[in-house]
Amino acid sequence: MNNYIDLTDIEDLQELIKEALQLKKENSAANLGKGKTLGMLFFNPSLRTRLSTEKAAKLLGMDVMVMNAANDGWALEFEDGAVMNSDKAEHIKEAAAVLSQYCDIIAVRAFPGLKDRDKDEMELVMNSFKKYASVPVINLESATGHPLQGLTDALTITELKSSKKPKVVLTWAPHPKALPQSVPNSFVEFMQKLDVDLVITNPEGYDLNQDITKDTPVIHDQESALKNADFVYVKNWSSYKTYGTILSTDVSWTFGAKKLELTRNAKVMHCLPVRRNVVIDDAVLDSENSIVIHQANNRTFAAQAVLKRLLSPSA
Ligand code: CP
Repeated sequence: MNNYIDLTDIEDLQELIKEALQLKKENSAANLGKGKTLGMLFFNPSLRTRLSTEKAAKLLGMDVMVMNAANDGWALEFEDGAVMNSDKAEHIKEAAAVLSQYCDIIAVRAFPGLKDRDKDEMELVMNSFKKYASVPVINLESATGHPLQGLTDALTITELKSSKKPKVVLTWAPHPKALPQSVPNSFVEFMQKLDVDLVITNPEGYDLNQDITKDTPVIHDQESALKNADFVYVKNWSSYKTYGTILSTDVSWTFGAKKLELTRNAKVMHCLPVRRNVVIDDAVLDSENSIVIHQANNRTFAAQAVLKRLLSPSA
């Protein structure tokens, strides 16, 4: 593995999941990162990604540097050939080259603007770091994907499934803010690689990018989609078609106890942070069906498996 930008950087997902679960049992690579430094740049807020990736790096013996790039760094220019006579003080070419001297791996979080779909889909920030850094780059959530979350979700379902081919339902839920499609995109991509019966349910107007959903069934009737689900992944996202907008705040899509009754006593997942009683009701989050804390714990082992691969790319 040379970078971890998206699912295509993983050669064998099953092997990587196995490795992450092994690392969870026993930290068998505690010295691999000794003398190496992970540099993390956050252009957006984070709790889990920041701390679980830092913890993962330290479990491998790495040093970690973290920067709130949006507030503390120079405003970066990403356009080639830009005349930098406005608000951007430093070009990505210099920034990435300098960081590559300080760090052995660079990790970046940069959310989409949600105004211009074509621009967001170019993944300018992530691809520029990949282009100009001379060390591996990890995606800590970009405009269109959150592959560390996707890997975590895949290993959580692999770890906790009790049937050979569980039914997994990704359901949209309301939210007061316009959120990216990054998490559901990655979830769908990773689930398509597992032996699961994947169904997506969302209101009309919220279908995800068809290049990602491909032939995964998309059902606009949530109750019928939830029937006999073994895992329910609840998540909000803004419209992809009417890009970046909120088309519905319909509370009938909130995931509550009545919805849970439609399932096969499903395990309920969410990437967190979750807005209680808007996205998922207290009654579900506080029940034994909720595995959101277990899921968040697995972020460390997913990150550890990826860092381990990047520290020993031939493995
Ligand atoms: N799920 C997730 O990425 O959480 P944070 O935004 O807190 O990092």
